[in-house]
Amino acid sequence: MSPLRLPDFPWDSLAGHTARAAEHGGGIVDLSVGTPVDPVPDSVREALSSVSEIPGYPTTHGTPALRAAAVEALRRRHGIEGLDPEAVLPTIGSKELVAWLPTLLGAGSGELVVIPELAYPTYEVGALLAGADVLRSDGLTALGPGRAAMIWLNSPSNPTGKVLGVEHLRKVVEWARERGTIVVSDECYLDLAWTSEPVSVLHPSVNGGSLEGLLAVHSLSKSANMASYRAGLVAGDPALVSRLLAVRKHAGMIVPRPVQEAMKAAFGDDKALLAQRERYAARRTVLRTALTDSGFRIDDSEAGLYLWASRDEPADDTVGWFAERGILVAPGTFYGPRGGKHVRVALTATDERVAAAVDRLTAA
Ligand SMILES: Cc1ncc(COP(=O)(O)O)c(C=O)c1O
Repeated sequence: MSPLRLPDFPWDSLAGHTARAAEHGGGIVDLSVGTPVDPVPDSVREALSSVSEIPGYPTTHGTPALRAAAVEALRRRHGIEGLDPEAVLPTIGSKELVAWLPTLLGAGSGELVVIPELAYPTYEVGALLAGADVLRSDGLTALGPGRAAMIWLNSPSNPTGKVLGVEHLRKVVEWARERGTIVVSDECYLDLAWTSEPVSVLHPSVNGGSLEGLLAVHSLSKSANMASYRAGLVAGDPALVSRLLAVRKHAGMIVPRPVQEAMKAAFGDDKALLAQRERYAARRTVLRTALTDSGFRIDDSEAGLYLWASRDEPADDTVGWFAERGILVAPGTFYGPRGGKHVRVALTATDERVAAAVDRLTAA
């Protein structure tokens, strides 16, 4: 057996800073990860338990009602028209799909997977698991004439919060179609926009009304506080989705039936989504002000759950500065070499913890 070439798990390297931050008398404020802290909507919890008596295996494709609810939510919330419910596939959270997609699509040795320069680490992991090569690039010209099997987009971005405009998305889709490259757009922060409106790759203004060669990845972890449920989906090109379905059936990659019911409820509950957005918007406002008052520049951060902050010093020094104040943030280097002078500050802490962070930053 050949050993897997996987990177170290980034958060393990934060142990020293975590210990330092935990020494603070007022307790640690952990803004280093994007894990939800607010309540799971009642509608979701009720739906989960409403089918808990069902003993049989769930279907890999998900219930027709779940897929219809997803299609309807994508239409209502993001103007996505013409998505066939057959071309929607629930996933066990989106991380597993991100990690296995190149393998499931058959991208392997000698093939190229393109990921953003600053990227959620699992895009690289997925390519490595498949034995494919990885290239970090935000531009198309850098890619040269060689064929890429897949290109990942992530708008709004983790970690930067940058939103890609329609023009940019359209160019990537055209470029990819000319070369037979699959475009996979991770849109797990699409519902959480602040200063610009992100657009899905499934929107007709991007794809000209055809979903050929396109996949969008969505998640209910952040928008519906369902990270513990493991609830995501992939949708788009019917031929690609049916390929994924075929492999996932064989491999037992099935979303549990109660979670399917909970997902359906979440896709119908716009009120809960709105309430959650307001919570994050309020935390973002106070954290952003406290950071800029403390001498930080906030770059991008137009949408999503993070503030991308810099004082133009090495990221590890900035993480240390925060840890001295009992606050844990993630160094930009977790997301790629270009993040060397930034830190990522998450909005996912309770109002009480965010207020504690603001007090400590203001006192600094
Ligand atoms: C860009 C991005 N994609 C995917 C995920 C995975 O989310 P989940 O597996 O909870 O759906 C995350 C989680 O932080 C993320 O930031």
